[in-house]
Amino acid sequence: MPNDLFIAPSILSADFTRLAEATAMVEEAGADLIHLDVMDGHFVPNLTIGPPIVKALKRVAQRPLDVHLMVADPDRTAAWYVDAGADLVTIHIEASTHTHRTLSAIRAGGAKAGITLNPGTPASAIAEVLPFVDLVLVMSVNPGFGGQSFIETSVAKVAEIRGMCRKLGIEPRIEVDGGIDALTAPRVVRAGADTLVAGNAIFCADDPVAAIQGIRRSVLAEMV
Ligand code: DX5
Ligand code: ZN
Repeated sequence: MPNDLFIAPSILSADFTRLAEATAMVEEAGADLIHLDVMDGHFVPNLTIGPPIVKALKRVAQRPLDVHLMVADPDRTAAWYVDAGADLVTIHIEASTHTHRTLSAIRAGGAKAGITLNPGTPASAIAEVLPFVDLVLVMSVNPGFGGQSFIETSVAKVAEIRGMCRKLGIEPRIEVDGGIDALTAPRVVRAGADTLVAGNAIFCADDPVAAIQGIRRSVLAEMV
C-alpha cells in the first residue's frame, strides 16, 4: 500500500457550468490532484475542454492539475497545456510519434510528464519511454466517456508495468483511469497503482465527499 495514495477526481463528470465549485468541493474533500480530460473529437469520439479552461481552473485550483490529453498529435499541442498551467501533462502512446521528444519538452516546460496507454495497447509499447516519465496512466476503459465499466485486464497490466519499473529501478506514479470506485480501487492499488482517477463514482454520488472518503477507505481496509 503506498503511504501516499493520490485521488484525482475527474471533472468530466462534474457540472460544467460550475467547474470552480466542483473543484473546490473535491479539494475540500481531500482530492490530491484535479484530473482534466481533454478530448478532441478525433483521437476519441468526444470533445471537451482545451487550454482556456485549463488556464481558468489554474486560477482557482489549490491542487495540481493533472491534464490527460486524449488528442491526435499531442506532439504538436502538449506545450499549450504546459503554458496554460498544467502541473502534469499525460499523452497517449498511440497518438504520439516523437514521444521521447514530447515528454522531454513537457518537463523542460516545467511540468511533470505522463504516458498513457489504451486498454488494447500492451504494456511493452511504453517500455522505451518509461525512464523519461513521472507518471504512467493505465486506461481501464476505452477513453472518451465517463461512467464506463472497468476492464478487468487492467489489473494485470498495472502489475506488469510496476514490475517493468522495478527492473529499471524507477518509481513513476502509476495512475488508473476508468471505472474506479470503492470496489475496483483496492484491486488496482494492490497491483501497484498509487494514483486513482474517479469521475462518476464521485460526481454522480449522492454525497461526493463521502464517495472520495469511501474510495480512500476501501484501499486502506484492503491493505491492512
Ligand atoms: C475517460 C476519461 C476518464 C473519465 C473517468 O475517457 O479519461 O478520466 O472521466 O470517468 P469514470 O471514473 O466515470 O470512469
Ligand atoms: Zn482521464
